Amino acid sequence: MAKVYVTCRVVADEIERLRSAGHDVEMRDVSGPIAASELLENVESADGLICLLSDRIDADLIAHAPQLKIIANLGVGYDNIDVSAAHAAGIAVTNTPGALTETTADLTFALLLSAARRIVEADGFVRAGQFLGWELVQPHLGFDLHKKTLGIVGMGRIGTAVARRGHCGFDMNILYHNRGRNVSAEEELDAARVPFESLLEQSDFICVHTPLTEETRHLFDVKAFRRMKDTAILVNVARGPVVDESALVWALKAGEIAGAGIDVYEHEPKINPELLELKERVVLAPHIGSGTVATRRALARIAVDNVLLVLAGRPPGTPVA
Ligand code: DGY
Repeated sequence: MAKVYVTCRVVADEIERLRSAGHDVEMRDVSGPIAASELLENVESADGLICLLSDRIDADLIAHAPQLKIIANLGVGYDNIDVSAAHAAGIAVTNTPGALTETTADLTFALLLSAARRIVEADGFVRAGQFLGWELVQPHLGFDLHKKTLGIVGMGRIGTAVARRGHCGFDMNILYHNRGRNVSAEEELDAARVPFESLLEQSDFICVHTPLTEETRHLFDVKAFRRMKDTAILVNVARGPVVDESALVWALKAGEIAGAGIDVYEHEPKINPELLELKERVVLAPHIGSGTVATRRALARIAVDNVLLVLAGRPPGTPVA
């Protein structure tokens, strides 16, 4: 009987699928990040691990998991895992690409619109009984999205889905910055690949969809914010450390940019207290890019499929190369 350790709550029917295949499943039924010592203790005897981005799966942990055959990450990003160490130890690593693309693109647009049209501030105003009627000049006047320039940093699946919403739904002009060309986005969405600096200078809205790597850590720093339009709005639904959070606070306070929609944080779940104080055109979400009932179920299903395959001696469906 193989042991599968699951570091977070997963819907009961997916756990049941593992059990019906004869596996011994232990699920951590507690909210909040797991302590490194608890994780270590549980992977020592595990054959399969289902985990999430807050679980640090480093070389040391891998060295303490002699039976482990698969690390199934719940999400598309896998910067929490030392993939080379896992592969060197003969452990498969899987993620959940594809399943959350459209859901995350929807949330990106929700943040863009909420920040630009000041929805959260306006909601608080109405609830506080401050709405005294329509006026030509009233609080919470916002910025238009339609026909503006949308800059996408990281034109992969999610970046392209956001660009499609911008181009097809809002008639936006699309710029992108990516390591390689995305020819289909250029043809289908009239997207133009530009250097990072030009994207910063020309975009009215910038959306971050790049993975976290040594090259992208603090890509958005003081220098980058200085180049952006003072009317620009930044949305980050990728990974917190791509944006230097103190530089973001500085840029918002100094009027270097006009607003932000943030779903991921540099020291998640901790958030710079000064960012929490900023409300004008600033919308903060608790890492819910993939947060719909259907999509979170799909992530669990893919992770469980991968564990079942690997524990049956077969290749996983969605391996990380
Ligand atoms: C993802 O899919 O990468 C989400 O951010 C959760 O890890």
